Amino acid sequence: MTSPPGAASSPPEAAASGPPVLEIAGAEKSFGAVAVLRGVSLSVRRGEIHALLGENGAGKSTLMRILLGAESADRCQMKLAGEPYAPPGPGAAQRAGVVMVPQERTLCLHLTVLENVVLGLEPARAGFVRRGAAREIAERALGLVTGVGRRIPLDVRAGSLSVADQQLVEIARALAQGGAATREDGLSAKVLVLDEPTASLGQDDAARLFTRVHALKAAGLAVVLVTHFLADVRAHADRYTVLRDGTVKGEGDPKVTPPEQIVREMLGRELEAARVEPGGDARGAPHDEGVLLDVNALGGCDRPRSATFVLRRGEVLGIAGLVGSGRTELLRLIAGLDASIQGTVRVRADKGVGLLSEDRGGEGLMLSRSIAENVTLSRRGSFVSRPSALFAEGARWIAELSIKASSPAQSAGELSGGNQQKVQLARLLREDYDVLLIDEPTRGIDVASKTQVLALVRELARRGKGIVLVSSQLDELVSTCDRIAVLRRGELDAPRPASEWTEERLLLEASS
Ligand SMILES: Nc1ncnc2c1ncn2[C@@H]1O[C@H](COP(=O)(O)OP(=O)(O)OP(=O)(O)O)[C@@H](O)[C@H]1O
Ligand SMILES: [Mg+2]
Repeated sequence: MTSPPGAASSPPEAAASGPPVLEIAGAEKSFGAVAVLRGVSLSVRRGEIHALLGENGAGKSTLMRILLGAESADRCQMKLAGEPYAPPGPGAAQRAGVVMVPQERTLCLHLTVLENVVLGLEPARAGFVRRGAAREIAERALGLVTGVGRRIPLDVRAGSLSVADQQLVEIARALAQGGAATREDGLSAKVLVLDEPTASLGQDDAARLFTRVHALKAAGLAVVLVTHFLADVRAHADRYTVLRDGTVKGEGDPKVTPPEQIVREMLGRELEAARVEPGGDARGAPHDEGVLLDVNALGGCDRPRSATFVLRRGEVLGIAGLVGSGRTELLRLIAGLDASIQGTVRVRADKGVGLLSEDRGGEGLMLSRSIAENVTLSRRGSFVSRPSALFAEGARWIAELSIKASSPAQSAGELSGGNQQKVQLARLLREDYDVLLIDEPTRGIDVASKTQVLALVRELARRGKGIVLVSSQLDELVSTCDRIAVLRRGELDAPRPASEWTEERLLLEASS
């Protein structure tokens, strides 16, 4: 392990002490000829929140899957509470008290909360589902993640909960599977891995989630937090480890390590000064003549109830709002994917309207097909008959968005989460739509690529496209958009120039 210069000055571990509860040493893993982990070591103490950081494709999820027994390592020595630990599969890891909430959501939305939490536990009860016992386990597990004074009902469908509550149910389920809730005295799980738990949450919900994570930490759990949000790492983690190209490039106390140093460790270079080029000429003064989209009093069955705005050529219009305020639904209504019950959408664009869905797993990719095929999926042109051109196009986008892949022929399913997101984005950007509706384009995307993606959005506006950008990252909206409108409980306020907004004001308006 290497130690960054700043780490030497770290104060002694305040939150956690004693020997590590989890030790990973010399983890190696290759997929074919590609070495993804090259001797990674990581140790985590009881009562510690340990952030695992790195660019898209750095190997974070792979390392965590090895810890969970979901992937086999080529070489790896692990110890849990001082004992050798080598789980043959996720079941064994759970029984040993190592559980994970994976990067991709896993709840069955059509099942109830209760069913989701105890799913997979039933066989342990001698082949019978003992309803009373199951409820008790679920209640205890949910109690651990909601704290006192809040309840998530057991008998509602998981799909009817907010995204934030679904996330809590995911954690409750992981804890229940780790045996946490089968014991009166609380936690028997030892290690909880959260792979990008706040990627789909707004600021308030993320803050609430962290409150609960701190409670779990206080109860003695070791938490490994995989995330791209460095501010969260600084605010909540006791230690961090950076992975780059399958090796550890830095570790220390994030509260005393300058963020620039952590970024340098992640990227192997400085983060380019390229703050997003704020629209230049176009910013604040979109071309008046070219109205692309005229949305008037648009409402759906639930949310939004009423949205009115005009989108012009060369303009990026931001939509801010809390998770659940109706932002995604608004985009779907405009795109005509859901039926509106009131209002009108007039599209004055020859080349139509394209949508980047926030749900990258569900709607977006053909996982068994190559990156090149996925990128060119919706507009093939002459590619079908010319594989060399197909791959050249794939390679172009791999370069453009810094997609980490072995070649354009690699299947999309083999990419890391953030890189899959980039493939979808590439497909949309490649289209020649006049209007682009982009929902959370930087979700799961690392800090260097975020800047790139946002710069591309600006570039598209410069070329005369109109863009509606939904993002939970308020700094992103302020730096990228020409105008921003806030969606509050289904009502869209009139857009105002981005120069009139700050992050704080947006948050205040959105949550008022
Ligand atoms: N089954 C597989 N076959 C081939 N390559 C794979 C497979 N699984 C993962 N990889 C490769 O391993 C590398 C590391 O992926 P991993 O999912 O661990 O990254 P990550 O750090 O979690 O990234 P992200 O931040 O995007 O989630 C990637 O380059 C990915 O393409
Ligand atoms: Mg990952």
